Amino acid sequence: MRTKIVAGNWKMNKNLEETESLLTELAAKRPDTDAEIIVSPTFVNLATAVRHLESSIIQVAAQNMHFAPNGAFTGEISVDMLKNIGVETVILGHSERRSHFGETDAILKQKVDSAIANNMRIIFCFGEELEQRKSEEHFTVVEEQLKNALFHLEAKSWEQIVLAYEPVWAIGTGETASPEQAQEMHAFIRKTIAGSFGDAIANSVSILYGGSVKPANASDIFSKPDVDGGLIGGASLKADDFVEIIKAI
Ligand code: PGA
Repeated sequence: MRTKIVAGNWKMNKNLEETESLLTELAAKRPDTDAEIIVSPTFVNLATAVRHLESSIIQVAAQNMHFAPNGAFTGEISVDMLKNIGVETVILGHSERRSHFGETDAILKQKVDSAIANNMRIIFCFGEELEQRKSEEHFTVVEEQLKNALFHLEAKSWEQIVLAYEPVWAIGTGETASPEQAQEMHAFIRKTIAGSFGDAIANSVSILYGGSVKPANASDIFSKPDVDGGLIGGASLKADDFVEIIKAI
């Protein structure tokens, strides 16, 4: 059985006070579930979030990290800094990192290697842009993104990988991929992984869908066999909405 996961990507939202209050509300309202629940506040509030959730099953992820172990990289955060405060999961390759901050597949490959070497779990994001879907390149684009950043890994490293398919045209736009579109792509991703790493690995990796998931559409998307959960942006900023999405899994 693959792990079901609902992860909230808070992006650049919530100051310290707001972070504490949302975490308190989430911890109180969290439904009983076998799924993993993850939140990812901004870097400055990660240590507080880890402490706040010490006795909760809710886990904390970072939204990014640098690939170098330390050094002259002003404004950056290393994997050791994250591990040292108790963060065990990092989101890498989010489309906003790719488009606004120039993160290429080559950079992401280095980040993946650093995370793997340091026993950090990765939620690896990828997905096509609108033009690429319109011109029916979406399968090729996704395959390239995966191959360029992940397919050099050893088989055992896949235990540390969670995938998040996030079509760029669905992120923060209110427009969601249909459950059928999500299923079609997730099945393709699994088949692509199976082609290089075999069925056992392909069937054990959790593949999340992200892009305008909300309480109203979460059940339909999560009902698809190859969708193992969601990476939630906007709707993870309100406790009630996030809780409804967790219930849907
Ligand atoms: P959204 O963001 O749910 O607000 O579309 C998803 C994401 O960026 O991970």
